[in-house]
Amino acid sequence: MSLPTPSVIIQGIGSFAPENVVTNQDLEQQMDTSDEWIRTRTGIRERRIAPADVHTSDMAVEAGKRAIDNAGLQPGDIDLLIVATMSPDLPFPSTACLVQAKLGLRTIPSFDITAACSGFIYLQEIGANMVRSGPYKHALIIGAEKMSAIVDWEDRGTCVLFGDGAGACVLSKSQQLHVGILQNILGGDGSNPNLLFMPGGGTVQRPTTESIVNRAHYLKMNGKEIFKHAVRVMGQATLDVMQQNGVQSKDIALVVPHQANIRIIDAIAARLDVPKEKFLINVDRFGNTSAASIPIALDEAYRNRRFTEGDYILCVAFGAGLTWGASLIKWTKTASRGQ
Ligand code: ACO
Repeated sequence: MSLPTPSVIIQGIGSFAPENVVTNQDLEQQMDTSDEWIRTRTGIRERRIAPADVHTSDMAVEAGKRAIDNAGLQPGDIDLLIVATMSPDLPFPSTACLVQAKLGLRTIPSFDITAACSGFIYLQEIGANMVRSGPYKHALIIGAEKMSAIVDWEDRGTCVLFGDGAGACVLSKSQQLHVGILQNILGGDGSNPNLLFMPGGGTVQRPTTESIVNRAHYLKMNGKEIFKHAVRVMGQATLDVMQQNGVQSKDIALVVPHQANIRIIDAIAARLDVPKEKFLINVDRFGNTSAASIPIALDEAYRNRRFTEGDYILCVAFGAGLTWGASLIKWTKTASRGQ
C-alpha cells in the first residue's frame, strides 16, 4: 500500500511594488496614446515603475522578507530559493543568487527559472515537489520583474501594458493530508517563439551596435495572436485541473488569473462559468507584472481576506514560450507551524 503524499502548503506570502505610480494620463504626455485606448483594450489604468537604481533582485528581496515574516520564520529557516523572472538583474549569475546574499539566507540551493508570465505556476510545481520529496522544509519562491527595463518605450503597442513588482511565497511541508497546493498543470509549446520574445542578447544575436540600433534588446509581441492562445490554453488548463480534482466551478472561492488584460480575464470567466466577483482583479492598478502577477494578486487577496481556511483557490497563467499553467490550492496556512 502506498503511503499518503505529504501536503505542501503556502505558509507565508508577501509582495512588493515600487511606490512610483505611472498613470495612463502620464503616458499620454510621453507618447501617442490615450487613457481611453489603454483602458478599453486592456483594463489598465496605472502601473508601478521602479527607479533606475532598484533592480529585480531588490524587489524580490522585499517580497521575500515579507513572505518569510508572514510565515513566522527567520531567513535562516529557508533551505531552498527559486526565482522566476524574464527580467533578471544580469544574464548570469542568477537573480536567485543575488537575492540569497541580499536576504542573508544560508548558502542554500538558489536558482532561476524562465517561464515568462507562467513563471509562478512553474515555481509552485518545482518548489512543492522539491519540498515534498527532498530534504527541504521551507522553500522560498519569488516571482519578480522589472518589465520597465526590458520593454521598448518607443513601442506604444507593448510598453503601456507592463509594470514592475515582486511576489513571494514560503512553501512548507504539512502533516495534514490533501491541503495546500493540490495540483499544478503545466504546458509549453515552443513552435511559435516569435509571438512574444526578445530577439537580441542571447546566442542568436549577441549585442552589437547594429542590434542596439534595431532595438533587438527589447520585448516584441504579436498581441492579437497571444490573446487568442491565452484564452484557449488558460481556459483549458483551469477546466483540466478542476476536473482532475473533482472540483466544480461552484466550489471555487477565488480565481487568481494572470493579470495581463481584463478582456482575457472576462473570456476565462465566461468559459469557466465562474462569476466575475470571484476573480481577483488588479490589472487596473499594476498592469502586467509577468511572473510577479499571480503572487502579487494572491497576496492582495490574502490581505483583503478574500478566502479562508479550506477554500479552493484557482490560479492560472499564460506567457511567452509559449507556456501556461493552472494550479488548484486548498487554502490552509496554520497546519505546519513549527515543522
Ligand atoms: N495607444 C493608442 N493606439 C495604439 C496603442 C496605444 N498604446 N498601441 C497600439 N495602438 C494602435 C495600433 O497602432 C493600431 O492602429 P491601426 O489600426 O491604425 O494600425 C490599433 O491601435 C490596434 O492595434 P492592435 O495591436 O491590433 O490592438 P489589439 O486590439 O490587438 O490590442 C493588445 C492590443 C491590447 C496588446 C491585445 O492584443 C492584447 O492584450 N493581447 C494580449 C497581450 C498579452 O496578454 N500579453 C502578455 C502575455 S504574458 C507574458 O509572457 C509577458
